[in-house]
Amino acid sequence: MPKPYYVTTPIYYVNDRPHIGHSYTTIAADLLARYQRLAGREAYFLTGTDEHGTKIAEAAAAAGKAPKEFCDEVVQHFKKAWSALSVEYDDFIRTTDRRHEEAVQKLLTLLNDARTDNGQTVIYPGVYEGIYCVGCEKFLTEKELVDGLCPNHKRKPEILKEKNYFFRLTAYLDRIKTLIESNELVILPDERRREVLGLLNQDLGDFSASRERVEWGIPLPFDPSQSAYVWVDALSNYITAIGYGSDETKFRKWWYDAEVVHLMAKDILKFHCIYWPAILMAAKLPLPETIFVHGFFTVDGEKMSKSLGNMIDPNDLVAQFGADATRYLLLTQYPFGADGDIQVSRLATKYNSDLANDLGNLVSRVAKMIVANFDSRVPTPVKNLEGLQELIESAEDVPDKILGHINKFEITAAIEEAMNLVRMTNRFFDTNAPWKLVKNGEKEKAGGVLYACSEVIRIAAIMLSPVMPNKSLQILSIFGLGKDHLRKENAAIFYHLEPGARVHFVESIFPRQDVSESKTEPSRKKTSESVDGLIDFADFGKLKLVVAEVLDAEKLSGSDKLLRLQIDIGEEKRQIIAGVAEYYSPEEIKGKKIVVVKNLKPAKIRGVESNGMLLAAKKDGRLCLVVPESDLPAGAIIS
Ligand code: ME8
Ligand code: MG
Repeated sequence: MPKPYYVTTPIYYVNDRPHIGHSYTTIAADLLARYQRLAGREAYFLTGTDEHGTKIAEAAAAAGKAPKEFCDEVVQHFKKAWSALSVEYDDFIRTTDRRHEEAVQKLLTLLNDARTDNGQTVIYPGVYEGIYCVGCEKFLTEKELVDGLCPNHKRKPEILKEKNYFFRLTAYLDRIKTLIESNELVILPDERRREVLGLLNQDLGDFSASRERVEWGIPLPFDPSQSAYVWVDALSNYITAIGYGSDETKFRKWWYDAEVVHLMAKDILKFHCIYWPAILMAAKLPLPETIFVHGFFTVDGEKMSKSLGNMIDPNDLVAQFGADATRYLLLTQYPFGADGDIQVSRLATKYNSDLANDLGNLVSRVAKMIVANFDSRVPTPVKNLEGLQELIESAEDVPDKILGHINKFEITAAIEEAMNLVRMTNRFFDTNAPWKLVKNGEKEKAGGVLYACSEVIRIAAIMLSPVMPNKSLQILSIFGLGKDHLRKENAAIFYHLEPGARVHFVESIFPRQDVSESKTEPSRKKTSESVDGLIDFADFGKLKLVVAEVLDAEKLSGSDKLLRLQIDIGEEKRQIIAGVAEYYSPEEIKGKKIVVVKNLKPAKIRGVESNGMLLAAKKDGRLCLVVPESDLPAGAIIS
């Protein structure tokens, strides 16, 4: 049996509502826990909130509230956001929870009684004289200031001279360095590991483990005039939540016997990679296995900040894209672990290309054909189809490949593996053209193609379920499969679906986004690029509508809305320019049967001749081509 897996996020400050930075780490942790469970491993996922200290007390005062009342309100925004994003944590710890406060006091008592290897006390009283940034909740050095201000918060630090209890960090630095160098304590990515080793080469001093006159905090059990330094309070959450000082069995299981993984961004590297290991060593507790430090992202090239007004509320993304797509889009913007940029205007385009086109369309095409041609029953597999063997091999390899990436925290690469399989299946579908097989009376073979596609869809849905838990279940339910099917073993074997099983297809899984109306972008007026709506209602009866086959399609250069289509309308071939490029890629529309108005005067659009107009339907940001119900030949007249 593999060790259980314990993954944590930072506990977030409740001075403000959650934004997509917090969401990023939280979704990543949720996803890692889900992948471990999919692989049959027990996992525990902890998140929570950091509620003590001056920063929170000030935010509460500014809101005219008592600190606890203020925290109680803000914490709801975090819980709601996580629920909106389908984040399923096993526990949510608040540092104002009684269980946490009591356990921290136990830890502080233990530390106060503890001795270093040289027999020195771990905690000793002293006087701190220096500067402190409330924004960072961190003691700074003069060197760190830029124009006298904290470089992160652009605020003037406080000058402090107060009695503190110090933590003898210096007694642990050599051991920490050795453990990191030998990779007994793994810090990933390597760039961050080197950064920590660099910090360890500077002279770090002991740090203040308590504050005087900070009332909003946990009192030191051995000197109640002082409260625990917020970072000592906060870091302890990783053990107080799993039973430190209260439930020895639970604590043993998740701290001693589990693989412990802390996730965070690089802003809080020093606290997690140096202070926290030192505290654990002083308390004679095991260290975590891995500290994974992901990058910081900017939004449209700018640092996210309140003053710039560019903080993105995860709820807005969920409202636009839904929980699953938001999870997918955030985690696929740039490689996990690197710094990156979230380009808001690209989210909808990526949604359309990856989710609506590649995945959603595959599911729709396959399910609709089964419903229409196979009486809504899973068809019988057929051997010897072009590309079938390759497809099966790729599908069967994908689960191990994905989990291999996940174990190395390569979340982006893991997702890409699944999406590449989906793309390969689309190509398999196109190459074997089951609609043509049906038309040519080769129904059995068409069924074989659809069976193979259904199997890959099933496998992809299982392997994408940690990323998109709801949509994956929705996809599985098309084939009558439920939550209990979400296991890696089920993804590793082909020929799982029973021929004859019922297929239920109701609606497309990822409705297309109307890119032009995307509310995160300034909404644009229709321009001459809009080719819809050229005729009056009164003229409707004169229209001649025919079925056309799209022989070729390409983007019209200089426009991101228009496609140039070569179509066959039976008696002749024509060129039309259609304003559908935001909804259909050239590859996607090529080979499709569509409906066109054929008796329109030729028009010049962007200087290019357009000889006809296609029909499409649009609502709520979706645009779909009007297509003939069954396989009518090109030229068929629609009346
Ligand atoms: O530091 N890009 O809380 P915090 C990526 N309470 N991740 C981001 C991000 C961005 N632009 N902005 C925020 C604290 N994050 C302490 C932690 S833990 C014992 C105490 C994420 O509310 C990222 O995980 O400032 C980062 O480390 C964390 O939010 C900081 O959250
Ligand atoms: Mg912060």
